[in-house]
Amino acid sequence: MDDEYAGSERLVESLNDAAVREAYKTPLDGYRTGILPRFLGEILIWCGNTVYGRSPSYLKFRAVEVIARVPYHSWASAAFTLLTLFYTDEARALKLSTVSRFSRFASDNETMHVVVISALARKERPAGIVRYTLIPMFFAFFYFWVSYFLYLLNPRWSLETNYLFEQHAFDQYSLFLKENEEVLKTKVIVSDFLAWYGRHPRSQYEFFESVRNDELVHRNRSIREIETLQTP
Ligand SMILES: [Fe+2]
Ligand SMILES: [Fe+2]
Repeated sequence: MDDEYAGSERLVESLNDAAVREAYKTPLDGYRTGILPRFLGEILIWCGNTVYGRSPSYLKFRAVEVIARVPYHSWASAAFTLLTLFYTDEARALKLSTVSRFSRFASDNETMHVVVISALARKERPAGIVRYTLIPMFFAFFYFWVSYFLYLLNPRWSLETNYLFEQHAFDQYSLFLKENEEVLKTKVIVSDFLAWYGRHPRSQYEFFESVRNDELVHRNRSIREIETLQTP
């Protein structure tokens, strides 16, 4: 697991290079999801834009990150449930455990995002309880069960919905970095949680670059996990 963490951190850092990022991103840019994931993905993004605005902001990221970490927990739980039924099928157990390992790892990564971003948001603007705490909590609850049951019925549906959500997150962080480059480079970031996680960005710009890269990795891995589950 430590090797996986180190490898993932190296990948995230390498994605700061625009050419490397493009080469990593392009092969899955045109991925066509099924109708149900597209429908669910569009609802999720539409709800986010309606409640938190179309433009990226600290407070929008805070709310989105509360919701974004949930499907990983759902997949790990669904894989755990399925392993209760199929533990004698070693090949299947291996595939489920592979997805489960990635899910736990990604949910820790998303937890880091929400903890650090909510601390940054607190310094920028106060957050209303209903809009920024209760609504994301309600959404997260709803999204947990949708992702969980979708995964049990057909993992592809859940993974493809997440692909769309992560694509949206990547686009939002990219836009945020572009629109606020100068000011973000002047803001230092001090976070015990981030240091514990093992990241040491010199500015908020570097931090948000790493988050943008994380979302791209999550997007691509969602599709790669479909391939893992489908290999005979
Ligand atoms: Fe995130
Ligand atoms: Fe993500």
